[in-house]
Amino acid sequence: MSEAWNEGYFTDVGYTYGYYREINPVFQRFCLLLRGLAQPEPAEGTRHCELGFGQGVSVNIHAAANPGRYVATDFNPAHAAHARRLAAASGSEALLVDESFEQLLERDDLPQFDSISLHGIWTWVSRDNHEVIAEFARRHLKPGGIFYNSYNCFPGWSPAYPLRQLFALHDRFGVTPNGAVERVEAALKFSEALLAANPNYLKAAPQLTERLKSIATQNRHYLAHEYFNREWNCMYFTDVVDALAPAKLDWACTASPLDAVDAVNLAEPAQTFLKGVDHPILREQARDYFVNQQFRKDLYVRGAIRLSVAEQREHLLDTRFVLTQPADQVPMKVTGALGEASLQEDLYKPFIEALAADACAPKTLRRLAAGFSGMAWPVLQQIVAVLTGMGAVAPCQPESAEREARTRCRALNRHLCERARYGNEIEFLASPLTGGGISVPRFQQIFLLAREQGRKQPAEWAQFAWGMLDAQGQRILKDGKALESAEENLAELTTQAGEFAEKRLPVLKALGVV
Ligand SMILES: C[S@@+](CC[C@H](N)C(=O)[O-])C[C@H]1O[C@@H](n2cnc3c(N)ncnc32)[C@H](O)[C@@H]1O
Repeated sequence: MSEAWNEGYFTDVGYTYGYYREINPVFQRFCLLLRGLAQPEPAEGTRHCELGFGQGVSVNIHAAANPGRYVATDFNPAHAAHARRLAAASGSEALLVDESFEQLLERDDLPQFDSISLHGIWTWVSRDNHEVIAEFARRHLKPGGIFYNSYNCFPGWSPAYPLRQLFALHDRFGVTPNGAVERVEAALKFSEALLAANPNYLKAAPQLTERLKSIATQNRHYLAHEYFNREWNCMYFTDVVDALAPAKLDWACTASPLDAVDAVNLAEPAQTFLKGVDHPILREQARDYFVNQQFRKDLYVRGAIRLSVAEQREHLLDTRFVLTQPADQVPMKVTGALGEASLQEDLYKPFIEALAADACAPKTLRRLAAGFSGMAWPVLQQIVAVLTGMGAVAPCQPESAEREARTRCRALNRHLCERARYGNEIEFLASPLTGGGISVPRFQQIFLLAREQGRKQPAEWAQFAWGMLDAQGQRILKDGKALESAEENLAELTTQAGEFAEKRLPVLKALGVV
């Protein structure tokens, strides 16, 4: 692997500024618990590692919002430099370096980690790097530690795999313009023209045209990283299990709580078939065929410990939960592999209302369950799985961990809200309760900034935001159109600020974001 530092990885443009809850240790532990697996307790001495952190939004939110220390790498120096600015702002003291995975493996000063996570990496790095990553986990993951990995997989990707091949081939052999975005555009045009000429392959994969159309609507920087790397190793679930076996990793479950709810993912015949498959790896691989899986988010444990049903129940009852959105905005619909399903309002609404009581303060499941004494445990467990899976509710960490994280979260959030003055790159803030990121769009971050600076009324927040936008010649987009006059912009901001104060602010307060 000795060549240019980027090893064929697309580095002409920086990556996007996404946040991924699946890397949050609190969320990871909850996913294990939901599937009846023991979860390591967070503590001061806890150590976490992220490989390939991109712009570093997730790693910095987690380093601020969780106890312990973080070590992470991304070999793109521009990414590492950006991530370090965030770490300096929060005071997390995360060690963020611009080393390749191979270089990180060579270090002799790294601890044993409680978790090692990589999101959006595996598919886009070489097989050699897969070995390096597995070896890193073998050397540095504690017994009982969590390993998280996400990747594009078969069978879901089978029909569209040739599309990615076309992009890559055009980029390699076609007439490619300078500039990353232009290269992406040129490859998209080439592929559109090819499909328009009606190749026989379209008969085998007729949905390809729609797929290309939807790809063509996506952020060009994202597409560059997703499709234009030299490496693109889409794999079956079982192949990844095999690749990680040398690190003594047991596949535990997915980092998608909704996967625990068969009713929204699998029709009756599929459920019956899968119940007849004894081996958990074969069953999970077979499940991928039923749900036509194309992207997996897997949690592994180095030595998984299964809890008894009673133990799992006790741990779940002791877990605190909190709403992440206003109670009346939680949709009564959920989308699983079977499509959209309606939630049973007489079960879900009272549960959400109970969570919203006492100004949305977090509550243990034990306390919530006391209000639903007639409800069977599996039903309660399913409600929790569905609401957390949808992202409407989040599990919380213990209060001691929350207290430790408050100051760092406050500092990071202040920095992010300051940045919102100039753009909408990072639309997440850190919650010391959930240990993770909460979606807070740019204007709401600016309202928080105004509030922090002593402006009390929503109308004043709107005025503050408008002053900021106007000075930069920016206008609000409404229904795809820019609002031109100052009055229109101010009126829109005033409406948004009013709604924010009434609905969203109480939730952000309860989450410790404010
Ligand atoms: C698709 S991005 C995902 C970033 C981030 N995990 C996220 O999901 O937002 C992949 C990242 O891995 C980094 N990367 C790729 N190969 C690497 C290697 N061999 N060593 C270190 N970082 C690498 C890239 O610079 C890039 O930021």
